[in-house]
Amino acid sequence: MKLLERLKEIEKTAFLEADKAIDLKELEEVKIKYLGRKGILTTMIKNIKGVPKKDRPIVGRSINELKTKFLSLIKEKEQGFREKEQIQFEICDITLPGIKREIGHAHPLITTMEEIIEIFKEMGFRHVDSPEIETEFYNFEALNIPKNHPSRETFHTFYLDNGMLLRSQTSTAQIRIMEKYQPPLQIVHAGKVYRPDAVDASHSFMFYQLEGFMVDRGIVFSDLKGVLERFAKRYFGEDVKMRFRPHFFPFTEPSAEVDISCFLCRGKGCRVCSFKGWLEILGAGMINPRVFEFVKIDPNIYTGFAFGMGIDRISMLKYGIEDIRLFYENDVRFLRQF
Ligand code: DAH
Repeated sequence: MKLLERLKEIEKTAFLEADKAIDLKELEEVKIKYLGRKGILTTMIKNIKGVPKKDRPIVGRSINELKTKFLSLIKEKEQGFREKEQIQFEICDITLPGIKREIGHAHPLITTMEEIIEIFKEMGFRHVDSPEIETEFYNFEALNIPKNHPSRETFHTFYLDNGMLLRSQTSTAQIRIMEKYQPPLQIVHAGKVYRPDAVDASHSFMFYQLEGFMVDRGIVFSDLKGVLERFAKRYFGEDVKMRFRPHFFPFTEPSAEVDISCFLCRGKGCRVCSFKGWLEILGAGMINPRVFEFVKIDPNIYTGFAFGMGIDRISMLKYGIEDIRLFYENDVRFLRQF
């Protein structure tokens, strides 16, 4: 049957033309050519009456089958072109606004720590590292806190299975450094310390401390006062006042707790200083000669001072933060403010 053969020809060329179309516009033209109102296949259906009656069903079915097949090819190709266009549009539209990437920044505690370290570096202190996993020797013994010493109580400690511990203070750095290097020494170290305290607004099981010390011939208490005063003025403001209150630390003798006048109310009394006018910021003292003996530095030749401060506390004071837990909850709404 000639008509069916012709249909085969049409199928071949129609599919070929559709395949050759390189964009939606060309595809549309092919579609119209075959399926439009005056399209080749449409016209064939219209003219079916001219086909001998007995051949009509088979010719009609063949044309319809071809129409369906062709239409689905066209649709599939259209879809492909649309997706490609979409992608190209996405890649290429340089008029769209740019994508703003969020840039992170240092955690407020790290910023505070770096600012403080910088001030001590300006005064000639060298910044060193020191391990967080320690032995009892570095965390206690060599700092003159022997077993059963009541002050061990104040340094509640996480012990590890292997007999080591998570340091409960950065004073360990004193021992680490003095054991290795001879005076003159002028050192700062800062980092994490751990204590199994119940967590509340002013306690965390992990927090940051900064330790500083200076050892040489002829170092006296007024050197400590001078260095700390310079630090306090640089960090809190030139008009800040300091006060030393006698205290006890096993590794320093004499020892003191050091307060600054409240930088918010300037000593008048406010919520931040609990209406005392003073803020306690650190512990300090002259290095106990017994500590020197542990690290084999001759206390008859050398003297030195040491101090330790809580970075969390200083950050809280400086930024007016009332709950230490905010530092560790990783809530970006809080962290973004710094
Ligand atoms: N290590 C002490 C603490 O964690 C702080 C401290 C006090 C450090 C006096 C010192 C110091 O170096 O002299 O509470």
